[in-house]
Amino acid sequence: MKIAIAGATGLVGRKMIEILEEMMIKPSELILCASPNSAGKNIDFMGEAHTIILLEQALSQNPDIVLFSAGGEVSKEWAPKFAANGSFVIDNSSAWRMDENVPLVVPEINADLINSNTKIIANPNCSTIQLVLAIKPLQHIYGIKRLVISTYQSVTGSGIKGINQMESERRGEEPSEKAYPHSIDGNIIPQGGEFLDNGYTTEEMKLVHETRKILSAPEMAITATVVRVPVTGGHSESINIEFEKEYEIEEAKKLIGMMPGVLELDFPQASLYPMPKITEGKDQVFVGRIRRDESIENGLNMWVVADNLRKGAATNAVQIAKYIITNKLV
Ligand SMILES: NC(=O)c1ccc[n+]([C@@H]2O[C@H](COP(=O)([O-])OP(=O)(O)OC[C@H]3O[C@@H](n4cnc5c(N)ncnc54)[C@H](OP(=O)(O)O)[C@@H]3O)[C@@H](O)[C@H]2O)c1
Repeated sequence: MKIAIAGATGLVGRKMIEILEEMMIKPSELILCASPNSAGKNIDFMGEAHTIILLEQALSQNPDIVLFSAGGEVSKEWAPKFAANGSFVIDNSSAWRMDENVPLVVPEINADLINSNTKIIANPNCSTIQLVLAIKPLQHIYGIKRLVISTYQSVTGSGIKGINQMESERRGEEPSEKAYPHSIDGNIIPQGGEFLDNGYTTEEMKLVHETRKILSAPEMAITATVVRVPVTGGHSESINIEFEKEYEIEEAKKLIGMMPGVLELDFPQASLYPMPKITEGKDQVFVGRIRRDESIENGLNMWVVADNLRKGAATNAVQIAKYIITNKLV
């Protein structure tokens, strides 16, 4: 079993290496790739140094599975080459997510879409993964008419550049490279990605389209506002749901708590609710502040936080790899 990681020096790639170690997935060969800037450097995996190579070299080694986290352009160019060679590609970028021939997978929800022919598999956006895991059990029972999502996203969602910008600003230095069009330290930026003609941003529309695809709900009314905040440790989301059917709040809480991959943390009297300081380094999606929306008939509000580098990216991708291995698709 040969596993390759494209983007192994990045925030997500490094997390993938950690998670393979934690899950005790030891491939016969681990092939680590990055850009020419990093080629020749070493990264440790299970106590052994691995030298970073380029993608063309990795291609000639015919890996069984390639985890891509090197940005959309790299995925667009290289994923088809690896897939044509017979590798399974698990892609973290947005390059393939909305392709109708590519499954968009959150294993707890739709791992059954993976088979020996699905050579390119897309990992959803980090904000989408935590959203769909929290709402899936409710959609199943009550049906969802409308979703209103507001995110408060960690700088770790913008890769190394995001963290570097925030830390440089905190030291009072000019960042060498900027991830955002404004200062992020001491600020809140209501822009995720680029603005589109409809006034929404690319990150907002990813939440809309990806959620509909994963939940097989092309008609679901969804509106999103994506906001970057100067924190690390996880993305937070305020989620407002209007159900098609009546519901009981206690039953809704029970359904959320029973969803695999989700942890209900909802003790408001003790001021205990999900926060990035709690979710950092953890794999679960944390849900709290679950309460009835008293302004509409079948409404519910909740607060959902998850470590975007783990379940929002690396953990989800490694779980997909594990599914491929366990089901003997390679
Ligand atoms: N951060 C998140 O929460 C998150 C969540 C979900 C999905 N994603 C997606 O995952 C991808 C990586 O994100 P990140 O946060 O890890 O970014 P990052 O920290 O900036 O890392 C980028 C990685 O891509 C590599 N790379 C760049 N150009 C390359 C090339 N031509 N060939 C091979 N490797 C190349 C970089 O290598 P060098 O070090 O050599 O430059 C580095 O390893 C992006 O597509 C992002 O949208 C991120």
